[in-house]
Amino acid sequence: MTKGSLSPRLRLCADSVGRGGAVLDIGTDHAYLPCFLAENQLVRLCWASDIADGPVSSALKTVASRGLSDRVFVIKSDGLKNIPPQVLQSLTDVVAAGMGGELIAEILSLKDALPEGVRFVLQPNTRAHLLRRFLYDSGLVITRERAVFDGKFVYTVIEASAGKYARPDDDIFLYAGELDPDEPAANEYIKRTAERLRAAAVGMKKSDPGSPYAEKNLEIAERLEKFADRG
Ligand SMILES: C[S@@+](CC[C@H](N)C(=O)[O-])C[C@H]1O[C@@H](n2cnc3c(N)ncnc32)[C@H](O)[C@@H]1O
Repeated sequence: MTKGSLSPRLRLCADSVGRGGAVLDIGTDHAYLPCFLAENQLVRLCWASDIADGPVSSALKTVASRGLSDRVFVIKSDGLKNIPPQVLQSLTDVVAAGMGGELIAEILSLKDALPEGVRFVLQPNTRAHLLRRFLYDSGLVITRERAVFDGKFVYTVIEASAGKYARPDDDIFLYAGELDPDEPAANEYIKRTAERLRAAAVGMKKSDPGSPYAEKNLEIAERLEKFADRG
């Protein structure tokens, strides 16, 4: 039986982590994800890291209260910067969830300190297209992407690792990633992304009626809607 529980969003992140490895959860806050992974013996070791003192102390409390101090280690760190090199080199999986896509991309800019075969599990709350663009430009391949309903929200969870892209550089890819429009949550995520682009285009047109960005947003929104309707 599964010990503890996670929100649907964090549960999909947990399901995306490889089994039996050593995981670093960046921006862990309460360390719910690493504690769930360790408690259910889904991984060997976890490091739970956060940039801020409040979350670090929350993480320490969760780890201690669940008796996981021998398997989940809490580290205060700005992204990968303050993680000891021997820890970085031992990792099989790195998780970054619940942050903006740009911040996750910035954190991953130090990815060369990690082993070549490390797997990334990334859950951007906003600006996911900028994260996908970063992955695309940095030689990381999205190996799987799934979406999940959580309350009134829909989230995407990206799995990525080093590799070569055969995929063309296409706006649809930047906004819909590797989501399967036949999956209900993925379909909804794609439609909501299109809605956001349309709303942004309306705002842009109000301030600058001839805005080429507004036209571009509308064109991508239309293509995303067509893509979703295939599902
Ligand atoms: C909204 S919480 C997400 C918590 C958890 N990962 C989740 O998905 O539920 C974002 C956390 O990221 C941390 N954070 C922000 N920037 C960071 C950075 N550069 N390095 C590490 N942690 C960071 C914040 O302190 C905060 O605890």
